Amino acid sequence: MRNQKKNIAGGNWMGGWIVFSLFAFVFPSCAQKEKNIAHQEVSLTHQEQHRPQYHFTPQAMWMNDPNGMVYYQGEYHLFYQHYPDSTVWGPMHWGHAISKDLVHWEYYPIALYPDSLGYIFSGSAVVDWDNTSGFGSADAPPLVAIFTHRHLGNKKRGFESQSLAYSIDKGRSWVKYEGNPVLVDENSLGFRDPKVFWHEETKKWVMVISAEDQVKLFSSENLIDWTLESEFGRNLGAHGGVWECPDLFELVVEGSDETKWVMLVSIGSGGPNGGSATQYFVGDFDGTSFIPVESGINWLDYGKDNYAGVTWYNHPDNLRVYVGWMSNWQYANVVPTHPWRSAMTIPRQLRLQYSNNQYKLVSAPIAELKNLRGDSRKIPSQIIATGHDVLVEDQGLSQAEYIFEFDGQANQGALTADSLVIEWSNRLGEKLELGYSIVNNQFYINRARAGAVGFSDEFPVVQHAPLNNRGDLKVHVFMDWSSIEVFVNDGALAMTSLVFPNEPFDRLRIFTVQGEVEMKGAEIWGLKAIWSNEVRD
Ligand code: FRU
Repeated sequence: MRNQKKNIAGGNWMGGWIVFSLFAFVFPSCAQKEKNIAHQEVSLTHQEQHRPQYHFTPQAMWMNDPNGMVYYQGEYHLFYQHYPDSTVWGPMHWGHAISKDLVHWEYYPIALYPDSLGYIFSGSAVVDWDNTSGFGSADAPPLVAIFTHRHLGNKKRGFESQSLAYSIDKGRSWVKYEGNPVLVDENSLGFRDPKVFWHEETKKWVMVISAEDQVKLFSSENLIDWTLESEFGRNLGAHGGVWECPDLFELVVEGSDETKWVMLVSIGSGGPNGGSATQYFVGDFDGTSFIPVESGINWLDYGKDNYAGVTWYNHPDNLRVYVGWMSNWQYANVVPTHPWRSAMTIPRQLRLQYSNNQYKLVSAPIAELKNLRGDSRKIPSQIIATGHDVLVEDQGLSQAEYIFEFDGQANQGALTADSLVIEWSNRLGEKLELGYSIVNNQFYINRARAGAVGFSDEFPVVQHAPLNNRGDLKVHVFMDWSSIEVFVNDGALAMTSLVFPNEPFDRLRIFTVQGEVEMKGAEIWGLKAIWSNEVRD
């Protein structure tokens, strides 16, 4: 044994927690509110039980997919599927928020309301630099949103069509194009979620859009008239559910001059741990067709709660920054939160790597999140073994970032245990387990005994994820009251999971099953909350 058991009793490194908990218990009435309450009537304290403190959540009521993500003149826009009259899915609007750093958000008024053509489903937004659409001027390019209008009548072919709206005041107000819809597909029952980008080589706009069980690719010179170029994926990838929310973008393969194109495709059900999930394909794109270079199924995230994510258009540093909706259609409508439902994932930078004859899309937290870090505590290097756990007690553990590093060099006797477990718990005995089965080379998240789970049979299932390599382990975790996001080895593996403890976690225990693990060290930061609660005009 190189080190004795370390028991690090809790210092007050997140004193703000006490203030939070008081608020959380002073306003229990939020939980009793019925649906269909008007937006203004609900408590908007951002201190309700389970409310994330540094993730984007709607101020109140229902949210699903991120939409229209575009950067323009120093501002990141985030629109989102929103029903402002209820905490369950309903007539879809585009809610709107703006950030200068992708971390702190300000709410703006609803950008798009349903109209005679239907609900406003998911879509994207671009800066039309050359005013190809004619909605702005050469000096003042318009922002153009391309979204799905979903007819209110019976489901029939053509009931989902694509429409446009534009803004000439930096996204503050939006005008729907009078010629809507601009694209109808009478052959598809589902035809939605257009993601549009400018393709410099062919000097055209390209749209990827889901059409039932495949993606269709269209092109346009003006965002108004669209031509079908190709179809992708009917016999490729995972098809356990309807295809939704595609994205297509080019990335440099790290450490080379090569670039490849990545297609993201979300599927409503049939994910690796059940329900909704997002897969990706790596390939080549010439402006007309996307040709994958590999077959097989690749998951962007193995947790149950990262869906319908896409990337920002026009990122100022040309990075691919992604945000997903942190829920799963299996239980999204019944998770125990009031007066809002759902959060987005933290923003993640996507990168492409190539090793062992395989391309891999990795996703890791964006650098800007470091600005939220408050006080930290370090846990020194030590051997973890039966009877030699690491214990941390602190009231700030539910709003924190963690980096744990483990030695994976077998010749030094490290990682000899059957498994390694990082466990968060509270006074009620509720426990969340993040485990690594060394024997199976698999990570898992077990939230079955971590608080409220009874609202859906699909919620407590243990989530598993394979790790492709063996060796040193870096486990990066973001915890925010009702979610855990795990990034192993700089994003080689991502797992995102909701969790609803009835009280915050205040105890962390790291232990092994059958054998030893050498922890090289760990650091824990309390993270600051991001909210200022105003709605801007
Ligand atoms: C994905 C999705 C999209 C659709 C939207 C409706 O979660 O089903 O395909 O546009 O949600 O809210």
